[in-house]
Amino acid sequence: MKQKEGQMDFTGKRVVITGSGSGIGKKTAEKFLEPGARVMISDINEKFLAQAEKELKAKGEVAGAIADVCNYEAIEALARKAMASLYVLRRLAEEEDSANALLLISSDYATFITGQTLSFSGGYSFVG
Ligand SMILES: NC(=O)c1ccc[n+]([C@@H]2O[C@H](COP(=O)([O-])OP(=O)(O)OC[C@H]3O[C@@H](n4cnc5c(N)ncnc54)[C@H](O)[C@@H]3O)[C@@H](O)[C@H]2O)c1
Repeated sequence: MKQKEGQMDFTGKRVVITGSGSGIGKKTAEKFLEPGARVMISDINEKFLAQAEKELKAKGEVAGAIADVCNYEAIEALARKAMASLYVLRRLAEEEDSANALLLISSDYATFITGQTLSFSGGYSFVG
């Protein structure tokens, strides 16, 4: 984090805040948006989440997702969604993507690829 003249700068940072449809979580989202973070808010309550998303959009880049913090699968899905937002392709690599890349560099189609410049980052390396 770069700080200038006592101000925080969260430009380029992504933050996920659970239980942020109201109260402390929502206020925390607002605090991170102000210095430039991209924030994913999440809540179990659809109505709270929609209202918070509507209000916080005025402050910066925010996206909402329903998730119950007591549900491991839901939180894992939330983390994957947040991580995927880092990539230009907006998704994480699947096993098949890796296998296809290995097939390509091992094939006759890769006769002039040295392996030093092949980017396997879903676009992250262009913007990250
Ligand atoms: N407000 C205070 O001054 C204060 C002080 C100390 C501790 N706390 C504690 O901090 C916590 C948050 O307080 P608050 O004032 O922000 O409460 P709040 O009720 O305003 O906000 C809590 C949010 O969490 C969501 N939520 C509840 N269960 C969830 C779940 N399983 N998964 C995802 N989201 C869920 C709710 O829908 C709500 O939007 C509470 O446990 C509270 O007791 C609050």
